[in-house]
Amino acid sequence: MRAVRFQEYGGPEVLKTVEADVPEPGPGQVSVDVAYAGVNFADLKARSEGYRVGGLPYVPGLEVSGRIRAVGAGVEGLAVGQEVAALTDGGGYAEVTVADAVTVFPLPAGVGLRTAATLTTVLPTAYALVHSVGRLRSGETVLVQGAAGGVGTVVGQLARAAGAGAVYGVVSSAPKAAYAKDHGYDEVFVGAFEQPVRQATGGRGVDLALDPVGGETLRASLDSLAAFGRLVSYGNASSAAPWTAGPPELYPLGRSVAGFSILSLTTTAPAELRRLAERAFEKAVDGTVSLPVTAEFALAEAAQAHRLMGARTSTGKLLLRVAD
Ligand SMILES: NC(=O)c1ccc[n+]([C@@H]2O[C@H](COP(=O)([O-])OP(=O)(O)OC[C@H]3O[C@@H](n4cnc5c(N)ncnc54)[C@H](OP(=O)(O)O)[C@@H]3O)[C@@H](O)[C@H]2O)c1
Repeated sequence: MRAVRFQEYGGPEVLKTVEADVPEPGPGQVSVDVAYAGVNFADLKARSEGYRVGGLPYVPGLEVSGRIRAVGAGVEGLAVGQEVAALTDGGGYAEVTVADAVTVFPLPAGVGLRTAATLTTVLPTAYALVHSVGRLRSGETVLVQGAAGGVGTVVGQLARAAGAGAVYGVVSSAPKAAYAKDHGYDEVFVGAFEQPVRQATGGRGVDLALDPVGGETLRASLDSLAAFGRLVSYGNASSAAPWTAGPPELYPLGRSVAGFSILSLTTTAPAELRRLAERAFEKAVDGTVSLPVTAEFALAEAAQAHRLMGARTSTGKLLLRVAD
């Protein structure tokens, strides 16, 4: 089978298309003939700095859609030939990949294979950020970094549907701001956001801030919270050194900080992850959210997808077309 992998960390050019052995599912797993693979920022972090890479060579790719090819021992409720969306622990940039059955989902009603490849990371993550972890209540205000990206566009739509009083986004360019405004955001700030947020909220700050950037942006997000506000950290796009919050940052205004990692949840609480994903998928089925695919590349062009996202010029979701 064809797969795209890297043998060393570096720029998009380290991604090479190779012939590889077809993986077989172990107990509790299935293999999937991949139709499409979603591109996630985590794939770029894997390629450039080894994020969650167990060993080299490594095939990136955390989410796919396709048909079940083979079923491992002990798997119930999934059958060969069934169309599914799957969250994988790497390996998605390939004609065949393997996934734990607990993170393999029959296609939700009305969702085709193309959209399904974008379901399993972005939608449960965005749902958890707004609801399970962020606990957004009607009327509250929300601030979201990376508002025009894969997670950001879904968070905007979910927050609005949940009755947010105002949804504020932060992006790195004016075109991204315009794009985010079409996906649930009331106001989108380009670059610096602390002063604009204060101004927009009449000096009060926001009730919920969602941060996938880390470093100084995480600190500024925390500083942008109103009294009793919540910050959810869910990434470190800036690759800044880990930063901690303690009593000086949290006590005076009763602020709190939480975290979320969908990939960790697959091992720490797989049953919770499955419930979360199923609740989240309903939001795509009932039309609450759309999952905008803005660019599609052939598998062998994965490097181009990485260039687009790495240059901070992508919006919505990027897809790799694996089956011809
Ligand atoms: N914890 C979880 O479970 C989880 C799950 C999925 C995604 N994530 C995180 O959520 C974020 C979005 O993921 P995605 O796959 O949907 O990607 P994406 O948003 O489609 O694209 C990457 C995003 O990162 C921002 N960015 C890129 N380089 C940056 C840098 N050096 N400093 C600050 N921001 C940078 C870009 O926003 P601007 O150019 O507008 O700043 C862009 O929105 C990523 O940080 C990812 O790791 C976390």
